[in-house]
Amino acid sequence: LNNKHFASILLDWYEQNKRDLPWRNTTEPYIIWLSEVILQQTRVAQGLPYFEKFLENFPKVEDLAHAPSEEVMRLWQGLGYYSRARNLHQCAKDIVATHNGKFPDRYNSLIKLKGVGSYTAAAIASFSFNEPVAVVDGNVFRVLARYFGVSTDIASSSGKKEFEKIANECIPKDNPATFNQAIMEFGSLQCTPKNPNCDVCPLSNSCFAFKNELTTQLPVKINK
Ligand code: ADE
Repeated sequence: LNNKHFASILLDWYEQNKRDLPWRNTTEPYIIWLSEVILQQTRVAQGLPYFEKFLENFPKVEDLAHAPSEEVMRLWQGLGYYSRARNLHQCAKDIVATHNGKFPDRYNSLIKLKGVGSYTAAAIASFSFNEPVAVVDGNVFRVLARYFGVSTDIASSSGKKEFEKIANECIPKDNPATFNQAIMEFGSLQCTPKNPNCDVCPLSNSCFAFKNELTTQLPVKINK
């Protein structure tokens, strides 16, 4: 297990291949939070216009908090999973009412917010405040399962814990934000679910799945 090698290759790849996405040009927690809630269960191409629309209508968390819920729901229309929009609105109200309009700056406080789970808390903590806590989404499961050869079910709670542990062992303490963006981007563009292009992958010569011809078998997801 060569975690340092893994991280440094990923960071190099990211510098060469990253997309210019608007939420990557800021450390403002409101903007990071908004983008990550929208991008849950939603592809970037689909989420992008919603992100822009929300920021335009609600430039600050106060604007969102004070908006009528009909307006929030109307702007969300088409994205699905409407509980996300209800939680988004409630969280904005809580931030204004009980946090003075400021997002908490630690993972352990962020995770207590309405609709904020381990993934979103890690995203805000790392991207906004450089806390070295790893994000683990579907992309991260796939990259780690293949590279390190982990066949634990990603849908199980023990699997989730195991992948979080591995990701947190890999994350460089001096650059957690870029590492988190890099591993998600790598999963999204290079280590894709179907037909990953291993021929041009900078990690293939040390990748468990590639060496053992198991890219189609990993990650393991047992549907319940
Ligand atoms: N999907 C979820 N979060 C993302 C991010 N920060 N960048 C690109 N895609 C994402």
